[in-house]
Amino acid sequence: MTQIIRTVADLRLIIRGWKKAGESIGVVPTMGALHEGHLSLARAAKADCPRVITTIFVNPMQFGNPEDLKKYPRSEAADVALLTTVGVDLVFIPQPEEVYPDGFVTTVSVGGVSEPLEGRMRPGHFDGVATVVTKLFGMTEADRGYFGQKDWQQLQVVQRLVRDLNLPVTVVGCETIREADGLAMSSRNVRLTSDGRAKAGVLFSAITAGADDIRAGQSDRMAIREAAEKLRAVGFDRVEYIELRDAETLMPSDDPRRPRRMLAAAWLDGVRLIDNIPV
Ligand code: PAF
Repeated sequence: MTQIIRTVADLRLIIRGWKKAGESIGVVPTMGALHEGHLSLARAAKADCPRVITTIFVNPMQFGNPEDLKKYPRSEAADVALLTTVGVDLVFIPQPEEVYPDGFVTTVSVGGVSEPLEGRMRPGHFDGVATVVTKLFGMTEADRGYFGQKDWQQLQVVQRLVRDLNLPVTVVGCETIREADGLAMSSRNVRLTSDGRAKAGVLFSAITAGADDIRAGQSDRMAIREAAEKLRAVGFDRVEYIELRDAETLMPSDDPRRPRRMLAAAWLDGVRLIDNIPV
């Protein structure tokens, strides 16, 4: 039976029993509006850990734009039903006051890896992510935390934060789950019009072709320019960035001996889509 818990006090009571029984806890932090990508994380956690918690919390601290926060899709009942099918033990759904009570003044800020790309486009975003993930790990006493590779920079930020703060959590990065046309699954995809949805798969095909061309010897700059042109040609409103970066530090990298990643963010239909692939 999947339990729904809304307060830290109730959560701690349950976790105390699990820890006493020597059961490790896998945690899947989410903001709800769950899709197959989230469920794949929950399944991975189930395969590794006797106890699995999914958290659903639309974290106001990581939204720069109040409109974006207001428009973020919310579907608690459907989310809980989906998590039940996967056999998640507990869904933690706190209110904002439970996470950020009166007097809350502490921020976790990760330097370096959180600064470029998403960090530059969305100032304060990763402070919000790092703060809430640290809190959720503490509240749930997570042994393992599961994150999607779709948010590659977020995954690197969380890895860095866990190392730097000596948190006793193993961070697991799981493969991006894609629609048939390659579009990375995301809670924001429901905001695309049918016309936008028909074009959205081009983000993945354009960066895939760019990565193939680089591996075949084309210059990084030319491959990136061609990928951006493909997006504009199909009707993307704005390409925020397409960049080839060191996969771990997210710094510019022209060293093919290091693992590298092509990362992109672009607007289609008023929806901001991001994706990334190894190069
Ligand atoms: O990836 C997300 O959904 C969020 O950034 C996370 C990790 C749940 C923190 O709010």
